[in-house]
Amino acid sequence: MREWTQFKLKKNGSERFKEFKIKTFEDHEKLLGSYKYSNYFLSKKNFFKRYLSNHRKIWNRILQKKINKNHQTLSVGSGLGINELLLIKKNFKVDCSDLKIPDSYKFLRKIFGKYKYKKLDILKKNLNKKYHNIICLSVAYTFNKKKMNIFFKNVNKSLKKDGKLYLDIGGSSDTFSSLIYDKYYLRVESEIIFLIYRLLNNKISFYKYIWGFKYKNSEIISIAENNGLKYQEIYIDDYENELNRSKIISTMIKYLPFAKYLFYLIGFKMPYVRLFEFVKA
Ligand SMILES: C[S@@+](CC[C@H](N)C(=O)[O-])C[C@H]1O[C@@H](n2cnc3c(N)ncnc32)[C@H](O)[C@@H]1O
Repeated sequence: MREWTQFKLKKNGSERFKEFKIKTFEDHEKLLGSYKYSNYFLSKKNFFKRYLSNHRKIWNRILQKKINKNHQTLSVGSGLGINELLLIKKNFKVDCSDLKIPDSYKFLRKIFGKYKYKKLDILKKNLNKKYHNIICLSVAYTFNKKKMNIFFKNVNKSLKKDGKLYLDIGGSSDTFSSLIYDKYYLRVESEIIFLIYRLLNNKISFYKYIWGFKYKNSEIISIAENNGLKYQEIYIDDYENELNRSKIISTMIKYLPFAKYLFYLIGFKMPYVRLFEFVKA
């Protein structure tokens, strides 16, 4: 496991290498766009057109195949609830939860019908109610090892006998390729773009985000198994998402079709979707 930082450029201001740490519900909200009102909440079509990215389609395919429609499912750290609403739309019984109930809930309930949204910090408590399934997508990358242990312990307590956890911690694994790519390559690329902008007298800011942590698959399995969950399977997919973090690579993929295959050789080493299936032991 290692710390995961991200470098982001914004076309205004003049700050260089200002550091941010993602801690609160509001920090997540800001980075995801916003959980507050927007036109995208006016219809199901608008909502999914805006938010249904490739990795979410992959998660959806797997979850719809694995989860029993009649079983109760809890989603932890749901945010807007994009994947959860895809399931609810197909009549799956899903309760959402997060550190706070986002403003979006009251608007989305109008277009998706009634569904529950609970306030839950999974590191502080488990719920009284037990569920057949728990899903947790792109949340646990913010947890250090101590918090990851608490997370699995509390998830375990909230599962019924033989209950399942579907977990994608968010982001690719801690491998040599991902280390070189996100710690060194993406930083150098941002520095170069920043410099060119400045030389051309354009306003630009360069931010460093302490994003969370990268874990190896084996580390996640080991922590889960130490907390009463048994590893079943891992579903690996999406070899392009990590490449899209690079302005240069994503532009080359877009405009030079043959470049795609070359960069996919790198992308194959950093799959973005790593959906683990665990069962309560
Ligand atoms: C990157 S967002 C992902 C949201 C959603 N799962 C998705 O796929 O769009 C991470 C979410 O996890 C929530 N979160 C962070 N720590 C949490 C905790 N200890 N318990 C519950 N939710 C948490 C944040 O508030 C945020 O909404």
